[in-house]
Amino acid sequence: MTKKILVLPGDGIGPEIIAEAEKVLLALRDRFDLDIVLEHGLIGGVAYEQTGQPLPPATLEAARHADAILFGAIGGPQWESIQRDMRPERGLLALRSGLGLFANLRPAIVYRELADASTLKHEIVDDLDIMIVRELTSGIYFGEPRGIRTLENGERQGYNSLVYSESEIERIARMAFEIARQRDRRVTSVDKANVLEALELWREVTSSVAKDYPDVTLQHMYVDNAAMQLVRNPNQFDVIVTTNMFGDILSDLASMLTGSIGLLPSAALNEAGQGMYEPIHGSAPDIAGNNIANPLATILSVSMLLKYSLHDDAGSRRIETAVRQVLADGYRTADIYSPGTRKVTTGEMGDAVVAALK
Ligand code: IPM
Ligand code: MG
Repeated sequence: MTKKILVLPGDGIGPEIIAEAEKVLLALRDRFDLDIVLEHGLIGGVAYEQTGQPLPPATLEAARHADAILFGAIGGPQWESIQRDMRPERGLLALRSGLGLFANLRPAIVYRELADASTLKHEIVDDLDIMIVRELTSGIYFGEPRGIRTLENGERQGYNSLVYSESEIERIARMAFEIARQRDRRVTSVDKANVLEALELWREVTSSVAKDYPDVTLQHMYVDNAAMQLVRNPNQFDVIVTTNMFGDILSDLASMLTGSIGLLPSAALNEAGQGMYEPIHGSAPDIAGNNIANPLATILSVSMLLKYSLHDDAGSRRIETAVRQVLADGYRTADIYSPGTRKVTTGEMGDAVVAALK
């Protein structure tokens, strides 16, 4: 059956990198019989400009009916000071929440071809392959009450709530254990159970889910220690499962270990297996429109899309192999360029990947 893919380019470099990912999708359709149709929608600042809302109802509706969503990036300085609930980020959060995309998979992989790009010594990051499983629709990002209130003495006070229910912890823990089964069978659950009650429950529920996975080892780690360990010896980790905010922070940290944030894809999945796929890097407004952004993270997001939402493992591997091939052949966008390699534009990189699809 034909699979429907909703494409949401968004802001900044979003449209440029998405255009290259679309080239790859269309090449798979035309040359390898991938049975897909593409639809397009508005989200983020561009949606706000055109419709007055960062997530127009039509986009959410189209997303509900899509088999998968390919997302570029959102945000830019021109929308940073508009009314809070109209900001581009709110559109993204509303889409995650509206579709119930509770599981965010953020791999941090060091590609051998780019090992020198890391700011850490290469013996620390060589062959790094971590999967961060971030809870994405609850925790302090969504907990109520929240707001900014004025106290009796006239002073303003900001407040947010860190809330996790047992079922929310259980489903993200299960996701992490299932993923670990396809990897090295080790899960590190990252919390702050020594200070926060919500995360004391997190630790308790994660431990009880672990009983259903005797073949997977579970280790608990406090978030401060986890941040330190990620920089000290990142190879000790296989799968990391953590809360929405800790996952936000640790995934940026982990992406930097690889030295090539322009290469890292991500997936956000719901209980129905529907997914939204996006590069980890943001909208990079400073370089938007220059045809120099790295499209590989978005192209690798298509690879994840094929794997997790279309269950097309062969197609997924085909993209990954093509990306490794162009890197081995020396193609580099400006962000990963080093002397002796071949500097290419966004469009040239996309073309190179398409040509390498076998
Ligand atoms: C991310 C981003 C988002 C988040 C922002 C843009 C709302 O930082 O996807 O990591 O905090 O989740
Ligand atoms: Mg982030």
